[in-house]
Amino acid sequence: MAASSYRFDQTMLRSFQTSLNNAKHIVILTGAGTSAESGIPTFRGAGGLWRKYQATELATPEAFVRDPSLVWEFYHWRREVVSRSKPNKAHFALAALEKRCKEEGKKLTLITQNIDRLHQAAGSKSIIELHGSLWDVCSADRHGYRSDDQKPWEDRTQPLVPALQGQGAPTVKHHANIPLKNLPHDSQGHLLRPGVVWFGEGLDPDVLGEAAEALQTCDLFMTIGTSSVVYPAAGFAAQVAARGVPLAEVNLDTSEATDICQYVFQGKAGEILPELLDVTV
Ligand code: OAD
Repeated sequence: MAASSYRFDQTMLRSFQTSLNNAKHIVILTGAGTSAESGIPTFRGAGGLWRKYQATELATPEAFVRDPSLVWEFYHWRREVVSRSKPNKAHFALAALEKRCKEEGKKLTLITQNIDRLHQAAGSKSIIELHGSLWDVCSADRHGYRSDDQKPWEDRTQPLVPALQGQGAPTVKHHANIPLKNLPHDSQGHLLRPGVVWFGEGLDPDVLGEAAEALQTCDLFMTIGTSSVVYPAAGFAAQVAARGVPLAEVNLDTSEATDICQYVFQGKAGEILPELLDVTV
């Protein structure tokens, strides 16, 4: 067996597993670190840059209005990366835990900030996507915001339009400056945008409502691979802790939530989770 790159405090591990076994409703919040071992760059820290831009600078309605081609190039490339990626052991361990919970008559709600749909690809079913999905598109209002009239819809066509073919890779340094008419449009001729939640935008109220209900009823909360700096997700741990619910964190590093977690497991999610959750993947 390969040597583990992590070492758990065995008392903490046993205590966590007792809480896990006793829990009736587990809520698990995941972030970009959960998909890092699938080769998908995280937002912050090493690899968080796209060309000379911070990923977060392009994820705004204002950036889309200013330069829709640039934003579409960036999202086209992200779709390319994800289309070549496969779920890793972290995703599979969480899907296996959900299956076990179901067999035991317990509930598991996965709340993800990730937009890659790799949890679904691994077999997870009960998922709340806080930030939408890379695979969805939607229409934009004139300020670049998601229009309220319509929910985003899935379109996995890749490239979405011929003009995006080959664009967006960080190695392609030039800006494609794709004319507006050649960017993705719906059948009525409205310019489409990625169906994700951008900075400055509110979350879908239905999605937020589902998350709130899960947070109010869970009796164990885990946060995995998130820096816990982007709200509202960044506030979930504290919200649940206020009810006295035990919290666990799995992260390569410390995060903004580490200090309030009873159980802290540091290392790669794909290496840690199978042992922690006692599942075979
Ligand atoms: P971040 O990039 O902010 O944080 C990634 C976290 O994962 C960090 O805390 C890393 O230490 C940790 N990490 C990296 N590799 C890991 C691994 N193999 N195993 C475990 N942990 C690992 O990503 P998020 O917290 O998900 O929002 O970012 C939150 C939101 O900010 C995103 O959903 C996105 C972004 O802007 C929007 O686009 C609206």
